Amino acid sequence: MNLYQKYILPELIQLACSNNRFTEKRQSLLPQASGRVLEIGIGSGLNLPFYSEEQVEHITGLEPNERLRQKASAVAKEINIAVALSTNGAEDIPLDTQSIDTIVTTFTLCSIDKLEKALEEMRRVLKPNGVMLFCEHGYAPEQNIQIWQNRLNPFWKKIAGGCHLNRDFDTLIKQAGFTITQGDYQYMQGPRAFSYIYKGIAKPR
Ligand SMILES: C[S@@+](CC[C@H](N)C(=O)[O-])C[C@H]1O[C@@H](n2cnc3c(N)ncnc32)[C@H](O)[C@@H]1O
Repeated sequence: MNLYQKYILPELIQLACSNNRFTEKRQSLLPQASGRVLEIGIGSGLNLPFYSEEQVEHITGLEPNERLRQKASAVAKEINIAVALSTNGAEDIPLDTQSIDTIVTTFTLCSIDKLEKALEEMRRVLKPNGVMLFCEHGYAPEQNIQIWQNRLNPFWKKIAGGCHLNRDFDTLIKQAGFTITQGDYQYMQGPRAFSYIYKGIAKPR
């Protein structure tokens, strides 16, 4: 890990993820989490204030980036839900099979290197009646935007911590053995190559 990735990127990620439009998505999604929750790539803990203290028993947050994990740890101390943070990536989830009620992933699946493996792991730890709440930016439906997403992707990945612009999460989530029971896919405000949002709920098939 170079100095940019260690010190500058975590600050940029936190800044980008703190924008109001992301916050609105968090507010609409996270109150639906309940029971034992697994958050994939918890980042600086921006979702933590939106969980229901009545509904959520425990949160496990995966975060490989040390600086972001430290920030999440500070936020975790301010809420009344027990939070355990892990250094593991989603490709190797340190939890028992079928032990989780809700998986949360917000703006993270774009950055996971071995996404197929990560989704397989997420499917493994989720209970048969569990849910995955997701909100991700990804591949736009229009070909003229996709062309730009594919062109920009190699450069963007380098400066944005491995973030891909061109992942079609509807297809990828379904291919991993989930059924999408609610999907709200639309552009947020902002440049179209970066702002097509896949928000929804998936259940194991
Ligand atoms: C854009 S940030 C989003 C952070 C947070 N989910 C949010 O909504 O603010 C992407 C996050 O994914 C994390 N990440 C990258 N690769 C990962 C992996 N293999 N497993 C889990 N998290 C990963 C990064 O460290 C970073 O915290």
